[in-house]
Amino acid sequence: MSFDVARVQADFPILKRQVHGKRLVYLDSASSSQKPVAVLDAMDRLYRESYANVHRGVYAISEEATAAYEGARARVARFLGAASPSEVVFTRNVTEAINLVAYSWARSHLAAGDVIVLTELEHHANVVPWHILAAERGVELRWVPLTDDFRLDTSNLGRLLDGAKLFAFSAASNVLGTINDVPALVDAAHAAGALALVDAAQFAPHRRLDLATWDADFVGITGHKMLGPTAIGALWARAELLDAMPPFLGGGEMIRDVRQDGFTPNEVPWKFEAGTMPIAEAVGLTAAVDYLEAIGMDAVAEHEVDLTAYALRALEDRFGDRITIYGPRSVEQRGATISFNFEGIHAHDISQVVDEHGVCVRAGHHCAKPLMRVIGVAATTRASMYVYNDEADVDALVEALAAAERFFAI
Ligand SMILES: Cc1ncc(COP(=O)(O)O)c(C=O)c1O
Repeated sequence: MSFDVARVQADFPILKRQVHGKRLVYLDSASSSQKPVAVLDAMDRLYRESYANVHRGVYAISEEATAAYEGARARVARFLGAASPSEVVFTRNVTEAINLVAYSWARSHLAAGDVIVLTELEHHANVVPWHILAAERGVELRWVPLTDDFRLDTSNLGRLLDGAKLFAFSAASNVLGTINDVPALVDAAHAAGALALVDAAQFAPHRRLDLATWDADFVGITGHKMLGPTAIGALWARAELLDAMPPFLGGGEMIRDVRQDGFTPNEVPWKFEAGTMPIAEAVGLTAAVDYLEAIGMDAVAEHEVDLTAYALRALEDRFGDRITIYGPRSVEQRGATISFNFEGIHAHDISQVVDEHGVCVRAGHHCAKPLMRVIGVAATTRASMYVYNDEADVDALVEALAAAERFFAI
């Protein structure tokens, strides 16, 4: 089931470059992934051969561009296991997908006193839209806490969900690596009469996402973390929900008719796609999911489980008690994102020193400040791995961290 990582690496032109005279070791894929040549070529080809605005032209290249754009929707629908392409709305990213639900569904369904349940490990993208709504409408936010092992503590979930209208949670944490049991959480939401929104930004790139198994109501993904370009993401939602939701942004192809006294919205999914959409980016995303499925999502997962086990062992063996790793220890329940701190050294200082060794990691709050408060730190250093990483990258990280320790002389 595994694949040849060296062959995958050869497909990523950026991995051939050097930084500070060292081989580039990219360990920041949870933030944004690198792009294979297949994605770059697909976008380049569209711009060179078939580029025009979509839906509006009756000439050949506009029809080609429209076919490519709508083909991307069908491809993403197939990747997610959606029942129909019309359930897939293209957005700029997962942040916009969640905001679409917050502005369209939530504002037409929720009122003062209604409850939304979130979890303590959410990215700000799945927190701030609900804070804005709470301030505007008087909606109550409740939070599923974490266990000592950095998983969701679901022991009190029934009570938290009691009377809730929406349970919005991540499938996988961008800080802890924790992978949540999405079907069980969706079941709990439905049992309480709530809808379930899944932020799959950190799941879709790394594990097989099967909407039928999840049975959720809203799912957001973001292309740039799954080998695709920036500025393309998607909201999947049940057809009947999308049908009943009012438009979010106005203008462009989201109308069927516009008059002086009002407008009639288009059908889904176009009702939610205002203005000129990211056409080349949708084509790039198509190439990205083709690339991932050519490797095989099960093979991607297996590779990452093996690499995560190797990395956790290497970090613990080398640094022992001096390193604190935030996340589940069992590699079966976590992704390839590893957050850690060294006592007495700031995360930003660590990341700066390892950069001098060609190693790219991220330091900070990772847009998850409520989580940072829960785990009691202001920042962590985060190394996150993907299909193009191998054990040599982990070894380079460990050596660079050892150099940082020496530099700060602890
Ligand atoms: C879990 C999670 N949700 C949402 C986002 C936001 O992604 P985007 O900036 O692509 O909207 C991220 C990005 O790091 C993430 O990790």
